Amino acid sequence: MLLLRSAAARTRLLPYLSSSNRAKTAAAPLVAVLAADVDFHERLPELYPHRPRARDWLTDRVARAEQARFSATLQIGYLLVGVRAAGLAAGPMAGFDAAGVTREFFPDGRHEALLLMNVGHPGPDAWRERLPRLNTEEVVWTL
Ligand SMILES: Cc1cc2nc3c(=O)[nH]c(=O)nc-3n(C[C@H](O)[C@H](O)[C@H](O)COP(=O)(O)O)c2cc1C
Repeated sequence: MLLLRSAAARTRLLPYLSSSNRAKTAAAPLVAVLAADVDFHERLPELYPHRPRARDWLTDRVARAEQARFSATLQIGYLLVGVRAAGLAAGPMAGFDAAGVTREFFPDGRHEALLLMNVGHPGPDAWRERLPRLNTEEVVWTL
C-alpha cells in the first residue's frame, strides 16, 4: 500500500485517473494506491513459518502473480471494512490506468497497482453515496 498525501504526489497520480475521478481524488485527505506484491513468496519463511519450503513452490512468476492479485484483493476488502469501521469514508476506484500507475509509482517491477482508495471525510466534491445492494435471497443459495 502506497499512501499519497502530498500535493506533489497527487500531481503525479491525477493524469492516470478517469476524468470523473480527478476532482474528488485531488480533494481527498489521503489516497491509497493498493498493489499486489508479485514477489511475496520471498517473505514466506517469515510469514508462513510452519512450511519453510513454501517459497520454493512459487517459482512460476505468472502463477505467483495470479495468487498475489487474489490475496491482495482480499486484503483490500479488509482494508475497506477497517477504514469504515474506524469512522472514515473509503471510496474505492477502479477507474484509472493501472499499468501507468504501476510504472509511475512502482519502478521496482514487483508491485502491480490494483485499486485506488480515497480515505477520509469527503469535502464538497462529494464522493458517491453508498450503492444499492442485491437482496440476500437473490445471491445466497442454501442446500
Ligand atoms: C471495485 C470498485 C471500483 C470502483 N470504482 C469506482 C470509480 O472508479 N469511481 C467511482 O466514482 N466510484 C467507484 N466505485 C464506487 C465507490 O467508490 C463506492 O462504491 C461508493 O463509495 C459506495 O460505497 P459502497 O460500494 O460500499 O456502497 C467503485 C467501487 C468498487 C467496489
